Amino acid sequence: MGLKNKTIIVSGGSGRLGSALAQELLNRGAYVSIADVKPPLFIDSLPSVIRHRLLFLEGDVTDIATADKMLIQTKETFGHLDGMVHSAYPRSPGWGTRFEELSPENLFFDLNTQLGGTILFAQRTIKLLREEKTGGAIVFISSIQGLSAPKFRHYEGTNMSSPIEYSAIKAGVNAVARYLAKYLAGENIRINTVSPGGIKANQPAIFLKRYRKDCINKGMLDPEDIVGTTCFLLSDDSKYINGQNIVVDDGWSL
Ligand SMILES: NC(=O)c1ccc[n+]([C@@H]2O[C@H](COP(=O)([O-])OP(=O)(O)OC[C@H]3O[C@@H](n4cnc5c(N)ncnc54)[C@H](O)[C@@H]3O)[C@@H](O)[C@H]2O)c1
Repeated sequence: MGLKNKTIIVSGGSGRLGSALAQELLNRGAYVSIADVKPPLFIDSLPSVIRHRLLFLEGDVTDIATADKMLIQTKETFGHLDGMVHSAYPRSPGWGTRFEELSPENLFFDLNTQLGGTILFAQRTIKLLREEKTGGAIVFISSIQGLSAPKFRHYEGTNMSSPIEYSAIKAGVNAVARYLAKYLAGENIRINTVSPGGIKANQPAIFLKRYRKDCINKGMLDPEDIVGTTCFLLSDDSKYINGQNIVVDDGWSL
């Protein structure tokens, strides 16, 4: 069974991964609500036959009153809610700072908004799904950095880094998915994570070359490479996959 006529809310749906996913969900016949602080760039290019299945809700999903409004508006617009993907990616001004220079303000902001925000947006979504009594599927977008230590040699000679708090947050997100999967036993609400490898975004050539050597066929991925797995976890095709993490990284973590 696919995603036709299912209603999915995508936090961060205007971002790189979120907008690729939102467009694929629309292509598969789903109703999509994007919860983001900015509108998706693709909105104006959608044909009207598809446009009516997309709702854009502007706001901060880490604020629970805003999150509740977005979820209720989604339900009121499309009549029901079947799933949620959490792809919002709030970052402090100090995001990417080296370990030695990490400040408490930036660290606590990122832990709160990225990990705390995931927990709270799940809490608000689950509240609504429970009221619906029809079950549902939730997918958190995690990362390979939540499973493996960064390959620091890839960053040498560039101004890139993988922050220590990112590893902590994504390991936490994976743990939260396992926790909630069991916590919701008997409620038919499934929770899984997708852990993408790095996504191409004009990184320096030397980084891309080193990264590629640790992969199997492609190296850094495109946002579209993540959407099939996410759609699978939202659909009934994965009905008994619960509390799992699917790694989509072209073998980087092997
Ligand atoms: N880009 C990568 O290489 C990569 C790799 C692995 C995992 N991921 C994960 O994928 C997810 C999405 O990343 P992305 O690359 O698409 O990032 P992105 O910055 O392109 O998109 C994130 C979106 O979240 C929105 N957002 C930020 N704060 C928000 C808030 N408080 N409320 C609502 N919306 C908010 C932004 O406006 C943006 O549209 C993140 O969880 C990230 O950790 C990304």
